[in-house]
Amino acid sequence: MALPQDLVREFDELVKNYPEKRAALILALHRCQETMGGWISPDIMEDLAAYFALEPVEVYGVASFYPMFRLRPVGKHVVSICHNISCDLRGAQDVIAQVCKLTGAPLHGTSQDGKWTVATVECAGACANAPMFDLDGVYHEDLDAEKIAKILGAVK
Ligand code: FES
Repeated sequence: MALPQDLVREFDELVKNYPEKRAALILALHRCQETMGGWISPDIMEDLAAYFALEPVEVYGVASFYPMFRLRPVGKHVVSICHNISCDLRGAQDVIAQVCKLTGAPLHGTSQDGKWTVATVECAGACANAPMFDLDGVYHEDLDAEKIAKILGAVK
């Protein structure tokens, strides 16, 4: 089993909050992604299926439905750039180009040094402060070239 025992113990507590064990699957997927390298591997999906008494394809169905779950390895840092209408109208394409240039990562890919993954995402609910991106789970809004350079330059 690839699931660490501390996560299993955490899930044992988590499922007590739900009428059906499987109702905690999404939270478990989040915890796996957060604690196991930023993505959810096929082995982890199989282990989750066993834990939740589901078929592996059911876990894959949930994990692949939600765009916040990553099913491929990612870099140490992930920049998720919103490219929906509000952000697009306020310069998302320029944000994408600048982030890719500064990180050396292709869009929807990872830099050769493994430090950065850059992706687009659908509306993140921060339209009033477009354009925006999410860097490792933290929103950065009202982006311009200077702000982007400063944010990315501060990342170790
Ligand atoms: S369109 Fe970008 S946050 Fe809504």
